Amino acid sequence: MTASKRQIPTPAAPRMGILLQGMGAVASTVVAGVLAVRQGLGQPFGSLTQLSHIRLGKRTDNRNPLIRDFVPLTPLDGLVFGGWDIFGGDLYEACAHAKVLEASLLEKLESGLREIRPMPGAFDQNYVRRLNGTHIKPGGRRDWANALRQDIRDFKKLNDLERCVVVNCSSTEVYAELLPVHQTLEAFERGLDENDSNISPSMVYAYSALMEGLPYANGTPSWAADTPALLELALKNGVPVGGKDFKTGQTMVKTVLAPMFKARMLGVAGWFSTNILGNRDGEVLEDPDSFKAKEKTKLGVLDTILQPELYPELYGNLYHAVRINYYPPRGDSKEGWDNIDIFGWLGYPMQIKVDFLCRDSILAAPIVLDLALFHDLAQRAGRKGVQEWLSFYWKSPMTSPQVYPEHDLFIQLTKLKNNLRYMMGEELITHLGVEYYDEGNV
Ligand SMILES: NC(=O)c1ccc[n+]([C@@H]2O[C@H](COP(=O)([O-])OP(=O)(O)OC[C@H]3O[C@@H](n4cnc5c(N)ncnc54)[C@H](O)[C@@H]3O)[C@@H](O)[C@H]2O)c1
Repeated sequence: MTASKRQIPTPAAPRMGILLQGMGAVASTVVAGVLAVRQGLGQPFGSLTQLSHIRLGKRTDNRNPLIRDFVPLTPLDGLVFGGWDIFGGDLYEACAHAKVLEASLLEKLESGLREIRPMPGAFDQNYVRRLNGTHIKPGGRRDWANALRQDIRDFKKLNDLERCVVVNCSSTEVYAELLPVHQTLEAFERGLDENDSNISPSMVYAYSALMEGLPYANGTPSWAADTPALLELALKNGVPVGGKDFKTGQTMVKTVLAPMFKARMLGVAGWFSTNILGNRDGEVLEDPDSFKAKEKTKLGVLDTILQPELYPELYGNLYHAVRINYYPPRGDSKEGWDNIDIFGWLGYPMQIKVDFLCRDSILAAPIVLDLALFHDLAQRAGRKGVQEWLSFYWKSPMTSPQVYPEHDLFIQLTKLKNNLRYMMGEELITHLGVEYYDEGNV
């Protein structure tokens, strides 16, 4: 659904809004991080838009600009943050509650963080049962959509912004099957009018963003813009959408290791992944129906990478399980273990163990930043609908219905960089390499 016609992106706006749906650990860490980088208190490690170079032309050309110098992106100094949450307070309080960043750093950022106060959220507790929101919009789904759209317009006006994107960083909603109300825009709008409880709050946020022409990126496993009704709206209004579920810790490792096994034709008998996590996200995921949404995005990757239908002898009997346990003492510092049972020549078994002591929000924050900047870029390049070229950032990348998602992290990176080259009219890099061995060159 990405526009295949090439269009050079228009220049970036000097200032751009990032509206965060949900201002908890991840959202407050990205905002505090951008403020810290602006004040010279830290570096944006983990962010491709800020740190990565891109090779252009042949290896002998020595052209390796920074991505942010190659494609037009709003600089960090020009970013303005806002958003919604179902709890009040300001972002200093959100950071203090999340306990991701040190108090000594937060003190230095206090005035900037105190200025940002979440707007009341659109909330239905049936979708996030463990939370009891107190800072919420009144009325039904149509009222929420009207109010969210007004919030967007007010935020843009107040901050004098032409451009803005929405990133969903809110709690994971319970898993539910899609129904007729999600299939067409007409049915969806009727559902909003009738306050149909099958429309989740995240879908209302996505609808509101798309109606206002704002790109919408979904960092959670919840349904949002990835419903036929809202994809129809995205195409109709010419807006890019992306999702879903930030690819941060264990799944990032999985999408590096699994392609390695397949590349070397090593079999996998079992892959057991377990996590302990003590933040609010972990608490929400204790609800089996919220976990079900997460499990779906986490389990999907191996089948697509390993292709058991093509390699039944290697991957046909793979036992794959994913567990997450809420364990408060760890807070945001998650520990993820993987036990992988593999087999090689003549079926001899081997094992690999991974113990990743990671920090959830530290891994997710640069992804939020990159996604906001790249979705804005995509819109300025005339792209609309699903942005498959940004699969790199997602556990469960949205794609056109005709194709399966690409999960291999390095194929995703090649795809991302080639899309940037393509947008800017540079030659794509195929890694063929024969040009270095032409007659006369050897
Ligand atoms: N951190 C990671 O590595 C990572 C990776 C992939 C996905 N995610 C997803 O990102 C999301 C955020 O993670 P987090 O650690 O910041 O969680 P969090 O619980 O700290 O923050 C979520 C925030 O959303 C708010 N919220 C809930 N429902 C809302 C609604 N309807 N409207 C507005 N706000 C609402 C909550 O009050 C909370 O402040 C989760 O869904 C998580 O699964 C995180």
